[in-house]
Amino acid sequence: MKKLIAGNWKMNGSLAANEALMGALRAGLSGPARDVAVCVPAPYLAQVGALAGDVIALGAQDVSAHEQGAYTGEVSAAMLRELGVRYAIVGHSERRQYHAESDAVVALKAQRALACGITPIVCVGETLAERETGDTENVVKRQLAAVIHANGHCISEVVVAYEPVWAIGTGKTATPQQAQQVHAVLRAQLHAASAHSDRIRILYGGSMNAGNAAELMTQPDIDGGLIGGASLKPEDFLKIIASAR
Ligand code: 13P
Repeated sequence: MKKLIAGNWKMNGSLAANEALMGALRAGLSGPARDVAVCVPAPYLAQVGALAGDVIALGAQDVSAHEQGAYTGEVSAAMLRELGVRYAIVGHSERRQYHAESDAVVALKAQRALACGITPIVCVGETLAERETGDTENVVKRQLAAVIHANGHCISEVVVAYEPVWAIGTGKTATPQQAQQVHAVLRAQLHAASAHSDRIRILYGGSMNAGNAAELMTQPDIDGGLIGGASLKPEDFLKIIASAR
């Protein structure tokens, strides 16, 4: 399966910084050996879309659970699609934590994205407390089950990202073995839900960097990465991309 390396810029960037970053990425990217995407703040989608060329796919960091109407501040899947968006992150732990997004809301967001031809990148992951009480598998399975249940046969068109909350922005990466163990659980769950589960990529996210990416991505069920901090540094992001084979 072709690996996918997706950058999540989170709430970072400026017109000038984006132009410099995209210029450096395009200059350093070679060949179609893996898929590359950048998930950027909504106000920059048009700018980055124009800078991305056809080797870097455009992604959003969120999408509304509603189709249209009186939802101040929300951005719909149809609007994203008009701007050429190919991927939308849904259920990132920062959305779950700071915006109280439930599994049901995340599932609806995935549904809206799919209805507009956008591939949702569905994030799942346990907190440190959940890991310590041995609940990791239950938590990620519950989070993914909500999306599978709401989307039935469309589920083959999603990307799943395992992002242990304790590893995000902390410099604490899951070991390749810890990550693989959870990826294998998710793979089995997807396999049971979809006849086309072999098309579904499961990314790892959480302090992935130029030094640890290669080993993580040699694990059998790790099909790429969702990268925060290191995706803002072109040299690091390019190294991560190069290590995906
Ligand atoms: P970091 O790579 O900065 O830990 O962030 C991971 C993440 O949350 C990507 O969505």
